[in-house]
Amino acid sequence: MNSQHNLFTPVQLGPLTLSNRIVMAPMTRLRAIDNIPNALMATYYAQRASAGLIVTECTAVSPLSLGYINCPGIYRTEQIEGWRLITDAVHEQGGRIFLQLWHSGRIAHPFLLGGELPVAPSAIAGVGSLHTPNGKVSLEVPRALETPEIAGIVEQFGQGAENALAAGFDGVELHGAFGYLIDQFLQDGSNQRTDEYGGSSENRSRFVLEVVEAVTNVWGGNRVGIKLSPSNTFYGMSDTNPPATFGYVINALNRFDLAYLHLMEPNEIDLANREVMHPLTPYYRQIYKGTLITNGGYNRQTADAILSENHADLVSFGKLFLANPDLPKRLQLNAQLNTPDQTTFYSSDAVGYTDYPFLELQVS
Ligand SMILES: Cc1cc2nc3c(=O)[nH]c(=O)nc-3n(C[C@H](O)[C@H](O)[C@H](O)COP(=O)(O)O)c2cc1C
Repeated sequence: MNSQHNLFTPVQLGPLTLSNRIVMAPMTRLRAIDNIPNALMATYYAQRASAGLIVTECTAVSPLSLGYINCPGIYRTEQIEGWRLITDAVHEQGGRIFLQLWHSGRIAHPFLLGGELPVAPSAIAGVGSLHTPNGKVSLEVPRALETPEIAGIVEQFGQGAENALAAGFDGVELHGAFGYLIDQFLQDGSNQRTDEYGGSSENRSRFVLEVVEAVTNVWGGNRVGIKLSPSNTFYGMSDTNPPATFGYVINALNRFDLAYLHLMEPNEIDLANREVMHPLTPYYRQIYKGTLITNGGYNRQTADAILSENHADLVSFGKLFLANPDLPKRLQLNAQLNTPDQTTFYSSDAVGYTDYPFLELQVS
């Protein structure tokens, strides 16, 4: 690592040599009808294969982790086959793709779970609402997991990792961010357990570290990443001492020699909600010894700056990649960028999904 890096310097990520340091951030797009990945999604991801690495939208490891209508899963044969269409399409374009493994925990609703209550570390409701087949509903109080049940959820992540291998991915990223199950275990506002999974930072980190163990047993450490968002307040997340909580778990992750740690900076909502650490990447850079991807609100200038200051090794782009299938080329040429259209982020078809123009088409 030295100060000469910019977005276009190749980088080693575990065994993979990436052609640039531009990562497509994971983004839920809700186009997986009946939770099965499809050909439209293959077109969308293949269009974005010039990223050094694509991380897919979050993908449920079991039926009880389905937080949204038409989000994909990785626990059924049809889903593995659907993802295979996507990994093949991305690889044909020379791209690299990791699957984001996810359990939504309390961010779900009986209407999405065949009538079952969502599960969580503690019976504490998230703050917010969800779209369900029966309309928009507020988050309800989840059922606290019994201690012996937790091993079963860890196993679901392990099975998801095996299924991702069968689907042809280059690796997997654990979704430990944004108020979902892993984050719910980590932060004490959502975890008030009195068993070995609650209380101290060490106990609250136990679940995620067991999941990391299960998934690295399948892939090896160097093809596994994890995304964390220590300053996230979304869905009512809170912690009495985030630097202690996240400092502990990030230090504990060092021993796995992971492909990367993916850190999300706070967004406008987090900054408006309460006092949070911002920026957080330089702080956790001192604790994490491996490859670091930073995320959140970057543009060409700020991304090059954080790389040249050596606070991170790669930068991931969400909304800009959604709207610009050829984002690396546009960043390299300092070309104009398409504007993301929020009204189609979570719609159901090709509009606002695979029809954002490429640069060539605009100038010809
Ligand atoms: C439409 C949309 C869907 C998202 N879905 C996910 C997701 O499935 N998993 C995840 O970790 N983050 C998700 N995010 C967050 C992004 O990965 C990223 O952290 C965020 O957009 C900030 O990066 P940006 O400022 O470059 O957009 C989503 C963001 C957007 C805009």
